[in-house]
Amino acid sequence: MSVTNPSEFSTGPDGADLQVAANGQLRHLLTLRGLSRAQITDLLDQSDKFLSPPGTPVIRSQALQGRTIASLFFEPSTRTRASFQLAATRLGADVLNLDVNTSSRAKGESILDTIYTLQAMQVDIFVVRDASTGVPAFITSHTNGYVSILNAGESTVAHPTQGLLDLLTIRQHKGAFENLAVAIVGDIAHSRVARSAAEGLMTMDVGELRLVSPPGLAPDSATIPGARLLHDLDAGIRDADVVMALRIQRERIDDIDGIPGMDEYAANFGVSHERMKLAAPDAIVMHPGPINRGVEIESSLADSSSSVITDQVTNGVAVRMAVLSTVARTMDVQ
Ligand code: CP
Repeated sequence: MSVTNPSEFSTGPDGADLQVAANGQLRHLLTLRGLSRAQITDLLDQSDKFLSPPGTPVIRSQALQGRTIASLFFEPSTRTRASFQLAATRLGADVLNLDVNTSSRAKGESILDTIYTLQAMQVDIFVVRDASTGVPAFITSHTNGYVSILNAGESTVAHPTQGLLDLLTIRQHKGAFENLAVAIVGDIAHSRVARSAAEGLMTMDVGELRLVSPPGLAPDSATIPGARLLHDLDAGIRDADVVMALRIQRERIDDIDGIPGMDEYAANFGVSHERMKLAAPDAIVMHPGPINRGVEIESSLADSSSSVITDQVTNGVAVRMAVLSTVARTMDVQ
């Protein structure tokens, strides 16, 4: 689709902040950019309350009873889609997972007409993933004031609930952010995960943020002010407390010339047991998934005691429960 007035972040055509209600509460979640440290901390603290020990019953509440959540994923997803569905169900909502491939979108219906149709069925919260920049803000600018839009992955620019679950996982394992060196490794240029994690980490005053990539997959240096850009994995990992590996987002790259092949990438940017010897002794390894085992991360490292990848997945449900309950509370007082 074409978006006439795309905004990468959270402003409408008039420049107003779309995310936050007049009373300062979170109304939509489009990006972590612009959220305060207190707002992020509050979401992480709420997420903690939705976690229960493995093997024990999950936490449930009726915070979303009477509310309807619709998931519209115009790109593939396993983790984000499943965890939003579980989060909404555990909070007592009615949940609609629209299969976009068999919906009237396939007959040419626009995304806004799809939203208007579901809005007329009293959907309260839309969870949206799309390959185009600006879609969540565009929808937010064109929907009724009483619905809420949650960005579940926007092009290369934002994946705010992934950023929150990454922050929660780091805080669980490492405590305060101020003394940490965090290395995000891989295709930073095309990674909405890297952007949202980096924005969140900078807001939380992380000690040092390193973005490590091949030159052809480096971000614009202005993308994340304050981060160090490196092209050497050994230098990037050295003494790091947290190492986050990313896959190459080949589906977003038009011109593959200059982009390393799988073997070259694995040799130069694959995070391995050997390379992790350079990191801090108790460093953790993260990956947002889906993983290409043996490419950006050594398969046995992904399953090792240093890996917190399954914690990230678990935390994804808790974070999405926190975000859903927060925007529902904002709706309740409007
Ligand atoms: N991390 C992430 O967004 O995974 P999915 O694409 O499976 O949702």
